[in-house]
Amino acid sequence: MQAVLVARAAFSDIVDRLRAHFEVDDNPEDRVLSKAELIARLQGKAGIFATGSERIDAEVLAACPQLRAVCNMAVGYNNIDVAACHARGIVVTNTPDVLTETTADFGFALMMAAARRIAESEHSLRRGEWTKWSFDQFTGPDVHGATLGILGMGRIGQAIARRGALGFGMPVIYHNRSRLEPAIEQALGARYVDKPTLLREADHLVLVVPYSAASHHTIGAAELAQMKPTATLTNIARGGVVDDAALAEALKQGRIAAAGLDVFEGEPKVHPGLLAVPNVVLTPHIASASIATRRAMASLAVDNLIASLGCGPNAGRPPTPVPG
Ligand code: GLV
Ligand code: GLV
Repeated sequence: MQAVLVARAAFSDIVDRLRAHFEVDDNPEDRVLSKAELIARLQGKAGIFATGSERIDAEVLAACPQLRAVCNMAVGYNNIDVAACHARGIVVTNTPDVLTETTADFGFALMMAAARRIAESEHSLRRGEWTKWSFDQFTGPDVHGATLGILGMGRIGQAIARRGALGFGMPVIYHNRSRLEPAIEQALGARYVDKPTLLREADHLVLVVPYSAASHHTIGAAELAQMKPTATLTNIARGGVVDDAALAEALKQGRIAAAGLDVFEGEPKVHPGLLAVPNVVLTPHIASASIATRRAMASLAVDNLIASLGCGPNAGRPPTPVPG
């Protein structure tokens, strides 16, 4: 029987499906494994059920020659050196589609919370500061009818565009590596623009680009300086797409109105400058965290692992491989 590592705790009833096919080494206490522990636990294993907290790089691959499948419970896979995996014939899979609508809901919620100062005003109320109504207390920019800017127009970006255009009457502009088909642009009511135009015209800018060397610090001081002082910035992509130090400074200076962040450089650590300013909503990487979606992600990762290692009804044909 082949052996697999389930690197973090997931829904045990779902993970238990692996036991019909494999010897399973799991981590019910849900400790984040160090690289040395990861390598040690992967010895003799043919596959891994991974999450964003395991870094599967060339060093790990070289130390684990029996590894044949890396199955991530996440749509993003910047924790995995995909080229190095493919060079060794290792299958890599992720969990797209099942989280698209849930993640778009959260991105929209974060954007609205930032614009309408929901977290900031709630914290103030809890501190006992609500003594009287006043005309300009916690006023912020409108969401409905404002221009929605989207950087990264994949599945999640398109789902956010639909919410804005159909639900909130927002003109939608976007920038992406490649332009959408005209028919899709038309259905979404989305207009393709270059990055400087996106920065200049968006009232609410939402980042949904995958992280890579090319998207590192896509939003830094120079880009923040081009945005409207009344604009908001929402990041549900990855830490590292935004220069968090530059963003903290821009928020402190009022260079933009507010931000909503679900992902951070070096998370779970958060830049102290972000913790120090009131005009940012901070959440702990939970955009896909509806109960149903997290179960669907775990289930898809399990299906991928079973199929990638030649078992089950889809043997050899994992449902969602990462292309190489
Ligand atoms: C979460 O960030 C994911 O990539 O699924
Ligand atoms: C990213 O992969 C997306 O689905 O937008």
